[in-house]
Amino acid sequence: MKLCKTVAELRAEIALAKADGQSIGLVPTMGALHEGHGSLIAAARKENELVVVSVFVNPTQFGLGEDLDAYPRTLEADCVLATKMGADIVFAPTPKEMYPSEDMTWVEVTGEITKVLCGRSRPIHFRGVTTVVSKLFNLAQPDRAYFGQKDAQQVQVLQRMVKDLFFNVQLRIMPIVREADGLAKSSRNAYLSAEERAAGLVLSQSLQHAAQLFDQGERNSAKLVAATQALIAAEPMSDIDYVEMYELPELTPVTGTMRGACLLAVAVRFGTTRLIDNIVLEGE
Ligand code: PAJ
Repeated sequence: MKLCKTVAELRAEIALAKADGQSIGLVPTMGALHEGHGSLIAAARKENELVVVSVFVNPTQFGLGEDLDAYPRTLEADCVLATKMGADIVFAPTPKEMYPSEDMTWVEVTGEITKVLCGRSRPIHFRGVTTVVSKLFNLAQPDRAYFGQKDAQQVQVLQRMVKDLFFNVQLRIMPIVREADGLAKSSRNAYLSAEERAAGLVLSQSLQHAAQLFDQGERNSAKLVAATQALIAAEPMSDIDYVEMYELPELTPVTGTMRGACLLAVAVRFGTTRLIDNIVLEGE
């Protein structure tokens, strides 16, 4: 595995691979890699000749008062895991390397798709994500880029960006990787105390409960949201940011009976840590 810390180093590697006609898979991450990230790298390994993993805690997607400074930075361990899962290149630039000047170009998807769910409590978040992912696409020139369904809204926003800006890249979306007890793996799980970690299980449990009701024929969105919300609210340590359902792919509000595939998504604080989880409910 080759570690590239500068744009120039990465560009040189990509130029060599392109000259050789190699297909390129990109896995953008913020590091503190776990098996969720690992599943994306493994998928990229299967489908591409060159696998690039970026490790960059992107400052533009963090709001004031969020956890930018506290976000775990574990580059050495990340390189070990990325190599084990099959990465050829780890791209780990400094903020200055990715954002050389304070005046900058933003890539922003507008509309409800970035305003609902996480966009409501994190108003600049998706603009930061789309800007940095555009930069990474332009640098790595991937044939395929790998993202997790864990960040379901991010997936929809990026799909919209790729479509609108005619990026020549295929987005490959991988299922949520969970701990044995159901908690979705996340770099932020490291912040949780033992009690918060136990309380956090209510997210996957409440979503599973909603999935069961759906399987039994419940199609009323308000009832499914209310059932999920009630289970989470019953956990004393939970502080709900949202429990909501939207229709895919544009995240349009669902009122009453569900028709197409719908995203049921939750964001809940346990202490100072905000966890997200979701399921897609697809009718026959
Ligand atoms: P990060 O939170 O590090 O996640 C990197 C990728 O790993 C994302 O596509 C995310 O959805 C995926 N991922 C995280 N946990 C997962 C899990 N339990 N199962 C499956 N996939 C999982 O998402 C970001 O970084 C950033 O916003 C980024 C896209 C890198 C832009 O800065």
